[in-house]
Parts: sequence; C-alpha cells; structure tokens
Amino acid sequence: MAKKKAIITGITGQDGSYLSEWLLSKGYEVHGIIRRASSLNTARIDPYFDPESKNFLHYGDLADGIDNLIFEIKPDEIYNLGAMSHVKVSFDVPVYTGDVTGLGATRILDAIRRGIENGILDPGVKYYQASSSEMFGTTEPPQSENSPFNPVSPYGCAKLYAYHMTRAYRKGYKMFASNGILFNHESPRRGFNFVTKKITKTACRIKLGVQDSLTLGNLSALRDWGFSGDYVRAIWMILQHNEPDDFVVSTGEYHTVKEFAEKVFEYLDLDFGKYVRYDKSYERPNEVPALLGDSSKIKKVLKWKPTVDFNMLVKMMVDADLEYEKFILNSPSQAIFFDAKKKGGKK
Ligand code: NAP
Ligand code: GDD
Repeated sequence: MAKKKAIITGITGQDGSYLSEWLLSKGYEVHGIIRRASSLNTARIDPYFDPESKNFLHYGDLADGIDNLIFEIKPDEIYNLGAMSHVKVSFDVPVYTGDVTGLGATRILDAIRRGIENGILDPGVKYYQASSSEMFGTTEPPQSENSPFNPVSPYGCAKLYAYHMTRAYRKGYKMFASNGILFNHESPRRGFNFVTKKITKTACRIKLGVQDSLTLGNLSALRDWGFSGDYVRAIWMILQHNEPDDFVVSTGEYHTVKEFAEKVFEYLDLDFGKYVRYDKSYERPNEVPALLGDSSKIKKVLKWKPTVDFNMLVKMMVDADLEYEKFILNSPSQAIFFDAKKKGGKK
C-alpha cells in the first residue's frame, strides 16, 4: 500500500515537531513547510529530518500561500499548524497576525477547493485547523464546543476567523475540514517566550547560579496546561475520524501562573519569593483570565485522553531544562557564547 502523505505547516514549531515524529512513526511520508530564516530554525526536527530520510522540507510562507506545493505533493492530509502564535506579540503586529494566522488558513482551504474542483486533488483530502482556546477569551469557564466565543486579542480574532472559514468550507464544499480547539499545551520543546518555558528555563538558570531573578507579568491568569505530545495524538485522531468535526482538547484542570511557578521553584528547592519579580511590560492590553476546557466530546467520540498531568508536565520541563543548562555550562565552546550573553545582561 502506498504511504499516506501529509503536509504540515508550522513543522519547525513545538507541535509540528511532535506531530511529524508521530506521523513518521505511523509510516507517513511527511512534507513540512519551513520559512527562510537568517539563522537555522529546524533545531526541533533535525534529529529525524536527515537528508537520507524520505521526508521533505519545502520553503513556503502562509502569507504567500502554498498552493503549488499542495498541487505537486497531492497530500492525503494537511495539518495547518503554522501561525504567528504569540498572544502578546499579536498586539504589536495585528495586521500581520490577521494575514498569517487568519487568512493563511483561507489560502489553504481555497487551494484545496480549487484542487478538488480541477481534479488535481482527491476529494477525500483532509484539512486540520489549529484552533485555539484563546478564541473563548472572556467566556466563563469551563469552555466546550458549545460555549460562546469572545476573543480579546488580535491572535484570538484571527484564529476565530480561521475556525469559521474551516466550518464554512466544510459545509459549503463538503470538504473534510476539522477544527481542534486546543487549550494551552507545553513541553520541553516549548518556545522560550511562552510563560511555562520562561519559568522552567529561568528557574534552572537560577539554580545553577547563572541568573539572579525571574520577571513575570500577570500571575493570576488561569490556564489548562497539557502536554504537546498528548495533543498531537488528538490532532491526528481528529483527522482519522469518519467525518469532519470540531473538538475541544484539554486536561480539564487549571492552575494560575503563580501556582505553576511555585511548583517549579519548589521542585528545584528554591525560594519563589526571593527570586520572582513583577514587571507591567509583560501584561497584555486585554487579558484572558481563565481557560478551562471541557473535553468530554473527544473523550467520548474518539476515546482520546491525556497521559501527562500538571505535576508530570512541570517535572518533565524542569528536568529537560536542567540537563540542557548544565550541558551549556559544561560545553567549552558554548560556554564562550554563554559568557558573552552574561556580560550582555539579563533576558
Ligand atoms: P509555535 O511553536 O509558535 O510554532 C509556530 C509555527 O508556525 C512555527 O513553525 C513557525 O515557523 C510557523 N510560522 C510562523 N509564521 C509563519 C508563516 N508566516 N508562514 C509559515 N509558517 C509560519 O506554535 P505551537 O505551540 O507549535 O502551536 C502550533 C499551532 O497551534 C499554532 O497555530 C498555534 O497558534 C496553535 N495553538 C497552539 C496552542 C499551544 O498552547 N501550543 C494552543 C492552541 C492552538 P518558525 O519556526 O520559522 O517561526
Ligand atoms: N508569555 C508570557 N510571559 N506570559 C506571561 C508572563 C510572561 O512573562 N507573565 C505572565 N504571563 C501570563 C500571560 O499574561 C497569560 O495570561 C499566561 O501567562 C499564559 O501566557 P502564554 O504562555 O504566553 O500563553 P497564552 O495563553 O497567552 O497563549 C498560548 O495558549 C493559547 C491557547 O490558549 C499560546 O500557545 C497560543 O498560541 C495558544 O493559542
């Protein structure tokens, strides 16, 4: 039987790396879209995208559209994970966020529509949209597939547009187009400027004596934090379902940012109060106070469930960061770079 082919936008990101690993383990031919960058941006996927592998990376950008790649590759499944994904940054670049995170999805959906109509693509091609709990914004928790959306950030608004376009194309053109409404999910591969990773990495540096404080914004925000490895399994299951649909993916448990930080400092045997500072510049113009997902539907229909709880997630991220930071400290070539950074001041 021919290998299934998948295209992943955002393959260089946290979820893209776990999803490609998962699809490779299932025997897929994986095609990833990467952006040209002045410094290498493939660190998360380098371990399994070696030049010998039958997997492929292509330059492309959601602002430009990837129509030609879709028509050439003729994938069975397209996972649209690419996005300007940082909520606070979206207030700085609202138009760009709308273009990439919102219109980027429409560019792909419409390429699929044209590809099917012109006989280039199989009508059964499946599309996954990486929708977000940020779309719920100020809606009272818990939030499910039936809750109202009240986004309060440019990112949340762009994601909600893409969510509705996915449903519109599903209904209007009978396309297999599904939304996963994923609540926050983290991992050792999480980008540094998201709060969990910022906390675990900085706390490890404090533990090793190379940084003296951690500066955060709103400590009272509540988030439902899961593990990216569990969530990409859900993403794949959503596209293997016998019909296109929309699913909330979450753990059903929430904690404040403060609780997450306290847990990390406690695990490292450090005094939270001694090291953590507040800076208003990390606050957003609008805050999303509380996200707590009700994922009963995906548990019932697809039999998905998370395997990593809050304590396991904290431990997993701290252990990985501690090992990495020790490696940097003990590696002579990296140490030169590290010293230079230290002289350059704090992050
Ligand atoms: P991430 O680590 O920030 O990765 C984002 C990916 O999008 C990166 O590969 C990035 O490429 C790529 N990208 C950015 N701008 C692009 C553009 N103009 N064209 C093509 N690709 C572009 O995000 P993630 O945590 O893996 O999340 C994956 C998706 O799920 C995103 O759409 C995110 O908004 C959504 N989501 C995430 C969560 C979460 O908690 N993690 C929850 C709900 C929804 P570079 O590496 O070159 O920057
Ligand atoms: N990033 C960051 N940095 N957040 C901070 C900080 C800080 O120094 N201090 C406090 N916070 C608070 C934020 O105000 C927010 O309430 C919470 O920590 C979580 O922030 P992030 O980790 O940046 O995540 P997010 O919830 O805004 O967005 C993430 O989850 C969404 C799903 O709900 C991203 O992954 C989005 O792409 C995703 O869609």
